[in-house]
Amino acid sequence: MKTILNIPILGTIILFFYRLKILAGFQWAYNWLMLKWLFASRETTNFTFDLDDYQRAYLVDFVAVVTHKSVEEIAAYMRELEQDQALAQHIEKLTQQHPERYKADRVIRFGKRLAWYAMVRALKPKTVIETGVDKGLGAVVLTAALLKNKSEGHLGRYFGTDINPKAGYLLQAPYSEVGEILFGDSVNSLEKFGEKIDIFINDSDHSADYEMREYQTVKDKLAANAYILGDNSDVTDKLHEFSRQQNRRFLFYKEVAKNHWYQGGGVGVSW
Ligand SMILES: C[S@@+](CC[C@H](N)C(=O)[O-])C[C@H]1O[C@@H](n2cnc3c(N)ncnc32)[C@H](O)[C@@H]1O
Repeated sequence: MKTILNIPILGTIILFFYRLKILAGFQWAYNWLMLKWLFASRETTNFTFDLDDYQRAYLVDFVAVVTHKSVEEIAAYMRELEQDQALAQHIEKLTQQHPERYKADRVIRFGKRLAWYAMVRALKPKTVIETGVDKGLGAVVLTAALLKNKSEGHLGRYFGTDINPKAGYLLQAPYSEVGEILFGDSVNSLEKFGEKIDIFINDSDHSADYEMREYQTVKDKLAANAYILGDNSDVTDKLHEFSRQQNRRFLFYKEVAKNHWYQGGGVGVSW
């Protein structure tokens, strides 16, 4: 075979088709995932998915490193979220009642929000901001963490920002007891925001310029030891750039989705 492959032109043609077969195998696996999603999911945007098993395990270590907490403590927080039946029932009930349920899935998949939850549990922030709320999955994850913190004597409040006046239908009692949504353009809401921010999560307009404008707007409102979580760091380097400018540390975790054609975003952390 090696002799044939070394024959000019003929060898090149055989190798071409052999390599095409390799690509076709990958493409078929990817197409199959897409086809399954087309029938099994209703989502049209802000896709939810579980993390691949390895990535789920690595996320525990990632959060432990950036928060300077033990792996055991962070792992326990993530399990706490996954086993929170009250939260699961709340999300399921409100999703099924909502007029836009036709584009929401029944299955709850937290993905990177496991990290958001664990960081709020680990750091006990007084003020958490999430720009970009959508249905409110991040909002209820973050307020669930704040409610647990409150039951342990640590008070904290969540502020979501969204330009869509209908955003955040999941943020209802009891989760809304520790959180609210500031409707309007995120940068405008952030300019008016008067408190120090302990955890800032960027997940609104995903253009690079807008992302940077959010960081510049909150720059002087960050508490000492504040954390910024960027949902855009897989597609722009703005949080990295901002971190360098501000002499902050930066790490990025890449999501890898389990059984989903969309391969996920990630979590940029600046602290
Ligand atoms: C990716 S979704 C947010 C997802 C949410 N963080 C979650 O955990 O599911 C982005 C949201 O940002 C909002 N958005 C887009 N541009 C915005 C802006 N300039 N100001 C505020 N919100 C904006 C959209 O309405 C949308 O609800």
